[in-house]
Amino acid sequence: MNIVSSKRELSEIINDLKVEGKSIGFVPTMGALHEGHLSLMKRSNSDNDVTVVSVFVNPTQFNNPNDYSKYPRIIEEDIAKLKSVKCDILFTPTKEEMYPEEDNREFDFGNLERVMEGKHRPGHFRGVALIVSKLFEAVNPHKAYFGEKDFQQLAIINRLNEKENYGIEIVPCPIIREKDGLAMSSRNMLLSKEQRENVSLISKTLSKSLEQSKNKTVQELKDWVISEINVNKYLDVEYFDVVDIKTLESACDWMNKNNLIGCIAVHVGSIRLIDNIRFYS
Ligand code: PAJ
Repeated sequence: MNIVSSKRELSEIINDLKVEGKSIGFVPTMGALHEGHLSLMKRSNSDNDVTVVSVFVNPTQFNNPNDYSKYPRIIEEDIAKLKSVKCDILFTPTKEEMYPEEDNREFDFGNLERVMEGKHRPGHFRGVALIVSKLFEAVNPHKAYFGEKDFQQLAIINRLNEKENYGIEIVPCPIIREKDGLAMSSRNMLLSKEQRENVSLISKTLSKSLEQSKNKTVQELKDWVISEINVNKYLDVEYFDVVDIKTLESACDWMNKNNLIGCIAVHVGSIRLIDNIRFYS
C-alpha cells in the first residue's frame, strides 16, 4: 500500500495509473475504520483496478468543537485494516495540505441541506462539500463509494457531483450493522458500557416501525418512534422524520411508500448517533 500525504503526489500517481488504463475507485473516510468502511473498500476493489482511500478528520464539517477534538484518531490500526482488505493508495493529508488558505466557497443544495442533519448541524454540509470537492479534484476517480448510513450526505454528494460536473459515478452502499442491530459508526467506540448496552434500542425501534407503519399514520408513527426511544434514560431523540428519498421532503401520508425513508438522530450523553430505515409496501 502506497501512503501519500501530498495532493500533488497523489494526482501524479493517479494520472500515471489512468494512462495505463486502470480504473480508479475512491472511498473517502475520517478514519477509525470499521466493517462499514471496509465494505465500501471491498465493493471498490471488486469494481475497479485501483482503490484509493482517504483518511482525514475534516475540521470544517464539525459544528461542535468538542466533537472534533474527541473524534477517534487511530491511524496505525486503520493502516492494518486497510492492508487486510487491499487498499492500493492511502491518502492522509494534513489540515494545511487540504486548507492551505481559508476556503470561502458557499454551496446551494436547497431543501437537501435545510432539513434533518442540515437543520441541526449548521454548516455541516458546507464542510462536507468543501472537503469532498477538494478530494474529488485531487483523486479524480471513476467511481466513489458512500454509505447509506449517512443518507442525507449521499443526497448532497449526488447533487454536488451534478452541479460541479465531476462525472464521477457515485455508488451507494448498504448500512453495515453490529450483531445487535446498531449501525456501525466510528463514534460507537466513544460509548460507555452502559450506553452501548442501551443504544441497540434505536435500530430495534426502526425495525419495528416497518410493521407499525401498516396501521399508523405517518405522524402517529413519528410520535411512536420518538416515545419508544425516549423511554430509555440513556437516549434522547433529536429528530425522527419520514422523508422522500430524492427530495428529503417530509411525507404526510404513505402514498409512495417505496420512496420513503425514516431518518433519526439520537443523543447518547455527549455522543450523537444517526440511523435510518427504508419503508416498503
Ligand atoms: P466517515 O463517517 O468516516 O464515513 C466514511 C464513509 O463510510 C461514508 O460514506 C459513510 O456513509 C460510510 N459508513 C459509515 N458507517 C457505515 C456503515 N455502518 N455502513 C455502511 N457505510 C458506512 O462520512 C464521512 O466520513 C465524511 O463526512 C466524509 C464523506 C469522509 C467527508 O469528510
